[in-house]
Amino acid sequence: GKGAAMVTAVAYRLTEQARHIQQTLAEFRLSKNQLLEVKKRMKVEIERGLKKDSHKDATVKMLPTFVRSTPDGTENGDFLALDLGGTNFRVLLVKIRSGKRRSVEMHNKIYAIPIEVMQGTGEELFDHIVHCISDFLDYMGMKSARLPLGFTFSFPCHQTSLDAGILVTWTKGFKATDCEGEDVVELLREAIKRKEEFELDVVAIVNDTVGTMMTCAYEEPTCEVGLIAGTGSNACYMEEMKNIEIVPGTEGRMCVNMEWGAFGDNGCLDDIRTTYDQAVDENSLNEGKQRYEKMCSGMYLGEIVRQILIDLTKRGFLFRGQISETLKTRGIFETKFLSQIESDRLALLQVRAILQQLGLDSTCDDSIIVKEVCGTVSRRAAQLCGAGMAAVVDKIRENRRLDHLDVTVGVDGTLYKLHPHFSRIFQQTVKELAPKCDVNFLLSEDGSGKGAALITAVGCRQRELDSL
Ligand code: GLC
Repeated sequence: GKGAAMVTAVAYRLTEQARHIQQTLAEFRLSKNQLLEVKKRMKVEIERGLKKDSHKDATVKMLPTFVRSTPDGTENGDFLALDLGGTNFRVLLVKIRSGKRRSVEMHNKIYAIPIEVMQGTGEELFDHIVHCISDFLDYMGMKSARLPLGFTFSFPCHQTSLDAGILVTWTKGFKATDCEGEDVVELLREAIKRKEEFELDVVAIVNDTVGTMMTCAYEEPTCEVGLIAGTGSNACYMEEMKNIEIVPGTEGRMCVNMEWGAFGDNGCLDDIRTTYDQAVDENSLNEGKQRYEKMCSGMYLGEIVRQILIDLTKRGFLFRGQISETLKTRGIFETKFLSQIESDRLALLQVRAILQQLGLDSTCDDSIIVKEVCGTVSRRAAQLCGAGMAAVVDKIRENRRLDHLDVTVGVDGTLYKLHPHFSRIFQQTVKELAPKCDVNFLLSEDGSGKGAALITAVGCRQRELDSL
């Protein structure tokens, strides 16, 4: 009768809805062939970054770091480290002891960087940093020490030595004026001078990927790759000097900061970028830049999810067709929320509770859909990131003319550490796409602080040798 017809109509609407949603998500589901293609394209961009003739226009910059070896355990001394560019800004004191009972002791304090400072003038930003250092030195009672300092500055820098780095471009949420094209070590030194309260010896500028690799290599000598899967996405590895054409010399190796977040900025990933990826890009502080990072990293995954949810709502498939103010708010889905929503231990009711907390009024069906959207977006991120890593480890293997490579990758980042599925899918992808490599993944403990100190220690030693 009538009732049965209505049930059929409702069921039909539901399957229609399911079909549309699956169609939307299908674009995010990459085949093995597509991923192999991504790996291949990464390989091409790596070569372009390394070669002298193509370096200038290359999107994956392959920046030399002047770190020539991993630590050997003889590093020793007290160092100050700064960590700028991750989830938190921190100042650290790192005490490294060499010898039979090697040890690293750390003290650190987290400081907030208000958004108006992040996006104000460079002078304000660096004055703020020095203000925080001053507070930290007071707190530790070390104002008169003139300590050597390692500056973890997690942005693309053109380095000409260990202690000089010209900021190529801001990435992630930063936008302070008058810094791009400037040597950030000089900006820091000038700000320290302006303050006239203490002296420091800035020895090294360090990318977080490099700090991570060095920290892991201190424990595990086979570690020659660093990966950050956090707010941003990037990797570094030990490359043969002879392949780094923009640095003179052909002997030995040097760590290269890939800046792979910019992969795709020349359009080479356009066939897999969706309209939602484009919307995220258009809404960002750096339109057209860091396109791979915008598909892979914590700062943007929630934004992709939000764009999909807005679209599904507009089409009447979600939230009763009502786009709330919350859903219009940039940055609501932080990594920690995505991680909670995707946790398998969480009942759907709890997913609803999280959405409620965010100010999204959902039905049970809504929460199922939201969870599936999150899962699809984060799976693609892990796979894309894995395809990039597969290109890196295979490059190292080919460099050494090996049929088989054993290598360790040091990893850090909130996405990798907090998300319930990212690391597993990432590792599985690397394994599938680089079958000739046995890759071991090692979580780094505080890579930005410890790594900067280790590099500073090596830098100090080198300087002593040079002055003899
Ligand atoms: C961004 C930065 C890069 C950093 C990464 C992870 O991609 O450009 O330097 O390593 O974020 O923090």
